[in-house]
Amino acid sequence: MTTWLHHLATCPSTNTWALEHLATLKEGDVIFTEEQTAGRGQHGRTWQSPKGVLTASFILESVLLSGFSLAVGLAVIFAVEDLMPDLAGKLQLKWPNDLYISERKLGGILCEGKGQKLVIGIGLNCRSELPVAEAISLHQLTNFVPENLELLEKLRQTLLEAASLIRVQGLTPLLPELRRRDLLANRQITITYNQETLFGQGAGIDAQGRLMIALADGQVRSFMTGNVQWRGL
Ligand code: BTN
Repeated sequence: MTTWLHHLATCPSTNTWALEHLATLKEGDVIFTEEQTAGRGQHGRTWQSPKGVLTASFILESVLLSGFSLAVGLAVIFAVEDLMPDLAGKLQLKWPNDLYISERKLGGILCEGKGQKLVIGIGLNCRSELPVAEAISLHQLTNFVPENLELLEKLRQTLLEAASLIRVQGLTPLLPELRRRDLLANRQITITYNQETLFGQGAGIDAQGRLMIALADGQVRSFMTGNVQWRGL
């Protein structure tokens, strides 16, 4: 039996469960549930997960959240592409860490921190029939989708590797890959930040992992947080 795995038949949200049990959890622990009844998404949204969406939270310690949330997106991409080589190079990140392929959402990430510990919640569309056209599932993209345990092991491994790298070298070694995977580059974007909404064009990711947006007046602004909507190229 894997000592790092906390397998729950059902729970409201693996992130909520992890935050409630954080004192007893340690780096590398994974909380997985087969049914999430009150999943949470970014910006206070609810996260619906029909059957076939992998829902799990991963515990990491002593990593600063700001730049790391981008590294998490990349770690999930590496896990998926390692296990499903026919998808290699195809996944993209919608800043800060939504997973996309063919302009459709493949998964979402919710990073939350308390003290020295981070809870990395991942919802990955694996075998689900999704009710919305903007979403896509792995089984629509490849003939072979690994079992949940194999996915969890690989995700755990790439997240632990990303944490080790970030602790020693920061975000710098990951920047070329982040920029290559940047879904928002050159796209028309709307960002809502501090109750202000701005329109512009995605202008890349800076060295701190902030999203750069070229505004209509030619000014380029960088954002550490914000709710981003995007339109076409
Ligand atoms: C988003 O796209 O807004 C982020 C979605 C994150 C969903 C996952 S599912 C596992 C974990 N538990 C939650 O309640 N949320 C995250």
